[in-house]
Amino acid sequence: MEELNVNLAGVRTGPLTAGERVTLTDPKGRRHSVLLRAGATFHTSRGGIGHDELIGGPDGNVVTSTGGVAYVAFRPLLEEFTVTMPREAAVIYPKDAAQILVQTDIFPGSRVLEAGVGSGALSLHLLRAIGPSGVLYSYERRPDFAAVAKQNVERFIGGEHPAWQLRIGDLAADIGPEPVDRVILDMLAPWECIDAVAGVLQGGGMLCCYVATTTQMGRTMDTIRAHGGFTEPAASELTARGWHAEGLAIRPGHSTTGHTGFLIFTRRLAPGVTAPLRRRRPAPGAYGPDYTGPRPPGVEVPVEVSADESPQEQS
Ligand SMILES: C[S@@+](CC[C@H](N)C(=O)[O-])C[C@H]1O[C@@H](n2cnc3c(N)ncnc32)[C@H](O)[C@@H]1O
Repeated sequence: MEELNVNLAGVRTGPLTAGERVTLTDPKGRRHSVLLRAGATFHTSRGGIGHDELIGGPDGNVVTSTGGVAYVAFRPLLEEFTVTMPREAAVIYPKDAAQILVQTDIFPGSRVLEAGVGSGALSLHLLRAIGPSGVLYSYERRPDFAAVAKQNVERFIGGEHPAWQLRIGDLAADIGPEPVDRVILDMLAPWECIDAVAGVLQGGGMLCCYVATTTQMGRTMDTIRAHGGFTEPAASELTARGWHAEGLAIRPGHSTTGHTGFLIFTRRLAPGVTAPLRRRRPAPGAYGPDYTGPRPPGVEVPVEVSADESPQEQS
């Protein structure tokens, strides 16, 4: 009897079967993704590996090519899948996805809104965290990107996910009326969507904006402050450094992930409630004459003093 078990988390157990992917890792750590097919061969520079050697065998097997090179074979983990799957847009990297799940407090059964969908990496993490009792409204304005995301999600899960509602459209213009507990925005201009998401995000709900540049970060933070219906936003950037530890050779690894993005977190206040004015004064020059973006409540546009009106210097 077929022992394979595929659940909505995309986790497969039991012996490897034809039709699923495995990752083969060689002794130098190079990885190859292989779609198992009965009778097929995976060719390497040091001979071939028959897929039939893997099919029916366990996850975590070691197989040797005809040229004598040993390969470790595992089913791909979700984080590995998201960084190797086909993509049209940049994906949220696992270190940032992990932080988003914890900081926005995603829970089984939660109602989550995300935009844009891009290649569907974050959608996969969110679907796994909310489970079949939750609902994920995913908005993407590019139908071609949405198609890639749908393919990626269904390939990992092995079919459609009942909690996933993929919607084609611009979030600011096409947002649905459904109330949600959590919102994650990964797009060029999240500030254009703050009003729209404020209309559906429930009081106490979390908003996360993921942006690539400092100018996007500043504009998003100031727009959230100017809206008034959110707590003071907090921004952060995560760096992850791998280490090499072998005998006495213990040092930082060579391949540290560079910049990925900035994370902004804030919490929605109850409808009609506005955030208290900050007691701390903005940094000098923060909202000076050169600043043209949104201003938080209580921060006035500085009055320009003309040369005629300015006090004469005492001689
Ligand atoms: C960086 S990608 C998202 C990647 C995705 N989070 C992932 O992990 O694979 C940004 C996406 O947002 C979409 N987008 C930008 N602005 C949008 C908007 N206002 N409404 C809907 N989608 C938007 C873009 O078309 C693009 O596909």
